[in-house]
Amino acid sequence: MAKFNRYLITAALPYANGPVHIGHLAGCYLPADIYVRYLRAKKADVKFIGGTDEHGVPITIKAMQENVTPQDIVDKYYKIINESFAEMGISFDIFSRTSRQVHHETAAAFFLKMYNDGRFEEKESEQYFDEVKQMFLADRYIVGTCPVCGNDRAYGDQCERCGTSLSPEELINPRSALSDAVPVKKKTKHWYMPLQDYEPWLREWLLEGHKEWKNNVYGQCKSWLDNGLQSRAMTRDSNWGIKVPLPDAEGKVLYVWFDAPIGYISATKELTPNWADYWCKDDTKLVHFIGKDNIVFHCIIFPAMLKAHGGFVVPENVPANEFLNIEGEKVSTSRNWAVWVHEYVKDFPDQQDVLRYVLCSTAPETKDNDFTWKDFQDRNNNELVAIFGNFINRTMVLMHKLCNGKVPAFHADVKDAKDDALMNALQEAKQKIEDALENFRFRDALQEMMNTAREGNRYLQEKQPWILAKTPELQAENQKLIDNCLHLCLQLTANLAIFSNPFLPFTAKKICHMLKVVDRMLEWENAGSLKLVSVGYSLRPPELLFKKVEDEQVKAQVDKLHAGLKKSAAVTTPATPPPAPAAPPKAEIQFDDFAKLDLRVGTIIQAEKVEKADKLLKLLVDLGTEKRTVVSGIAMHFKPEDIVGKQVTLVANLAPRKMRGIESQGMILMAEDNGKLVFVNPAEMVSPGSGVS
Ligand code: MF3
Ligand code: ZN
Repeated sequence: MAKFNRYLITAALPYANGPVHIGHLAGCYLPADIYVRYLRAKKADVKFIGGTDEHGVPITIKAMQENVTPQDIVDKYYKIINESFAEMGISFDIFSRTSRQVHHETAAAFFLKMYNDGRFEEKESEQYFDEVKQMFLADRYIVGTCPVCGNDRAYGDQCERCGTSLSPEELINPRSALSDAVPVKKKTKHWYMPLQDYEPWLREWLLEGHKEWKNNVYGQCKSWLDNGLQSRAMTRDSNWGIKVPLPDAEGKVLYVWFDAPIGYISATKELTPNWADYWCKDDTKLVHFIGKDNIVFHCIIFPAMLKAHGGFVVPENVPANEFLNIEGEKVSTSRNWAVWVHEYVKDFPDQQDVLRYVLCSTAPETKDNDFTWKDFQDRNNNELVAIFGNFINRTMVLMHKLCNGKVPAFHADVKDAKDDALMNALQEAKQKIEDALENFRFRDALQEMMNTAREGNRYLQEKQPWILAKTPELQAENQKLIDNCLHLCLQLTANLAIFSNPFLPFTAKKICHMLKVVDRMLEWENAGSLKLVSVGYSLRPPELLFKKVEDEQVKAQVDKLHAGLKKSAAVTTPATPPPAPAAPPKAEIQFDDFAKLDLRVGTIIQAEKVEKADKLLKLLVDLGTEKRTVVSGIAMHFKPEDIVGKQVTLVANLAPRKMRGIESQGMILMAEDNGKLVFVNPAEMVSPGSGVS
């Protein structure tokens, strides 16, 4: 521990183009907050940095969809996002914005230093240009068919269906997300960062030096490095963003993924004049909390930028989480399949800790996980209410009844083995919680906390002080035993406040109030102590910590989810013409165009996973006269063993493409139903090779 004297904790800057949902919370803000609260309880020197990412295509697209300016969009959503986090107790030391002056200056200076040190390659290239809108189309301004999975709404930077990262050149049938026009190629100049130059350093620093990183993170980085890094443009043609600080750069801005992470630095500057202590001294532990879609930017590109600039620390860890699904389906903001934080806090006032508890319990730490309202109810009713709340409530009620509302003494002369066992359990729990928190295993830590409350209930059940006090005579005889039991239960209650504080900060405060102790008691050095509440002290009456979530509430939430989904589907169809990127209709074609397609039915005779590619399956398709190898991005939807023998329709004359070194000789047709994929095949079995027309 001695190695680091201060901590700099960042949580990804969400795009200010929409509110935050519970997937955001579970993915990075809640774990970051738990970690920070733990560090603060340890009296560590820590700064927790957040803010909104206000540049880039996502903002401008949203502005066009709503027919307002990008500035209107970011102002609106900054406010909503900031409030949502505050209400959920995400305790940023600063929640800044990348549109602020300090950030524009910091990011421009960062770029200029790299430029002056010769860190960029200046290159002219041909890029897609929308002649209708008179602008270049990069990233999400361009859509087309994904070469991997055939999704016809893939973006110029990524296909959201199969997750493959793409460049606009790789899209089949590219079209403008703004006008739906078929783009033309036009020359433009940009500044590229030769990432390959940093590969040796990245390998040593990350692959050799950080084998302790989470498997999902380390694995993704390794595969990027093994696939070879390339030069990447760090500027864009746009008028929304940070102007490239060079004389001949009219109409050019910094790439949003260049400017946004520098936002962590700018926000620290805004927070404290001592910002450089945090960013430039080797004994700082920098930790980035992010979701899995941000891994490459935080583990490869930003560290390479920090290294290229020089003078900054690089992250010590990047504990990225996977995704949280909702009721068995992927979150989709466009379909409104999401649980919005600002709505949760309205529907469940004063129950922030319940959501924090449930999201931490089901956090997608190692794999994608599912949130369901039923599980929310179960965890609240069976754990928070029935175990944690129940233990503390019983303790307080019994103390008032059997000990005159005062903390009873502990009489060493009648101490027994059960008392010892409880005290040992407390010490063990403290160790385990610490160990789990230090290693970003927040679910385990939370479970240990809950187990401690479970132990308390068991102890009370074994001691049965209410039986010892059945009659006034009995109570007089047993008072010492009763005192010991409730003394320990009260000390345990105080410890539960300390243990739960990082996870359930609102609840921890309520416990402090009941016990009439100051919040300073929550400091971690007090954990495990049996002297937290003083003998003879009179305590407040018990407060209800948690209440049951009723079946109607669960039903109402599930209904709301489905109703919201329908509504958003309905509005996009008639009324105002839908904004382009959703499902742009395709241009009319002639019969000849269609006739160019050679569509054939084939049978899948082999299927296997492609190594190091989560999304891909390698299929062998029998077309009667020949067999074709097809690489298809459907591995998240089908198990190889389930699809062997199935008939599929193949575009048989598509030019072959190489994917992960395998030549794919055709593309399989799929129907997509709200994120679910289904093979398009004839209603009856036909002989392999049958033509489709
Ligand atoms: N806005 C990005 C997203 O929501 C995250 C940016 S993180 C930062 O995916 F480091 F770049 F700020
Ligand atoms: Zn795809």
